[in-house]
Amino acid sequence: MKKLAIIPGDGIGPEVIAEGLRVLDWFRQRRGIEFELWQLDLGAERYLRDGTTFPDEVRDEIWSSCAGVLLGALGDARVPDFEHARQILFGMRMGFDLYANVRPIRALTDALVPLRGRSARDVDFVVFRENTEGIYAGVGGQLRRGSPDEIAINEDINTRKGVERIIRAAFAYARRHGRTRVLMSDKSNAMRHAHELWQRVFALVRLDYPEIEASHLYIDALCLELVRDPSQFQVIVTNNLFGDIVTDLGAALSGGLGLAASVSSNPDYPQRVKLFEPVHGSAPKLVGLATANPLATLLSVCLLFEELGFASAALELETAIKGTLEAHETTPDLGGTSSTSQVTDAVLARLRQGSSA
Ligand code: NAD
Ligand code: IPM
Ligand code: MN
Repeated sequence: MKKLAIIPGDGIGPEVIAEGLRVLDWFRQRRGIEFELWQLDLGAERYLRDGTTFPDEVRDEIWSSCAGVLLGALGDARVPDFEHARQILFGMRMGFDLYANVRPIRALTDALVPLRGRSARDVDFVVFRENTEGIYAGVGGQLRRGSPDEIAINEDINTRKGVERIIRAAFAYARRHGRTRVLMSDKSNAMRHAHELWQRVFALVRLDYPEIEASHLYIDALCLELVRDPSQFQVIVTNNLFGDIVTDLGAALSGGLGLAASVSSNPDYPQRVKLFEPVHGSAPKLVGLATANPLATLLSVCLLFEELGFASAALELETAIKGTLEAHETTPDLGGTSSTSQVTDAVLARLRQGSSA
């Protein structure tokens, strides 16, 4: 039986993960999709209680025995330096070398698209975000801290291997899914060392995919074009930081952070543990109000089903989510009046209806 580590984390993390578990339970009971669930008490509470962040034994056991990790969110004002969160989040993304952070941007209904004259058809692309290096690598330091002559440095790390594998992953995805366009985005006009490497590698890799139209936009222009006409994009590949930013923008184009899901994996080792998480954070202002949208987590469960070999369950769940959105049974971020658990109730009701039809 496949094993899943469950890390609810901080803020609304536990609230949305609880809903994800209800859905997993439905598929266990009704579809026989059984996972061994391993609940992990990791996050700010634990860190403040006993200093634990991401223990080696936990890391090793996830690595050796889990097919997936379902993570809620990390981040708590009581840990202002984000120490525990970095250890846990980057401990998995970088520690397990899950270099492809795949974030689908797809509007499930027309009403979710905030752009005038645009419909769901116009917002359907996938972002391949490099997930192990770039500015996130943590290389840097502070000199003369606290003095007027202070210097703060974060180096942008771009390796040939790291750049090439994420670009290849994006092209391979396009080929596999019948997508005809891949766009690479960088800032090579300003970052002439690091991002010139992206330019060169992109020019080489595209030769292996002659049937796919390869193009480039600087990241600032990409932001503009995403809002002006999102329908031109199918697959976007970019570095860690730009991928982070552009996927929040993508979330806004498709209904907001309450609906944005992601999976991090290493496409070179498909059997390796995969990390499933909503794109949003711990949303401290929503904690305890029962208004957090659980659908980003439920859509992350869809990705989990897809990636772990349960494609029909993924489709079934997505159809139920779509129906729920169409019926406006949503949390306030989408204009509805439902609570977090009522949204899941609505999804489960549709799953039941669908299965009796
Ligand atoms: P955030 O994603 O938590 O919130 C941004 C906005 O989106 C807020 O208005 C919030 O209320 C709203 N929002 C987020 N999730 C929602 C949901 N499920 N339903 C309805 N509305 C939702 O980002 P932030 O405020 O910049 O960060 C808060 C904390 O989360 C910080 O500590 C940050 O570092 C952390 N963070 C963690 C992750 C992660 O764990 N992967 C991702 C992003 C931010
Ligand atoms: C995300 C988040 C993280 C990131 C933060 C919390 C470090 O914003 O998953 O999008 O930048 O990757
Ligand atoms: Mn982010």
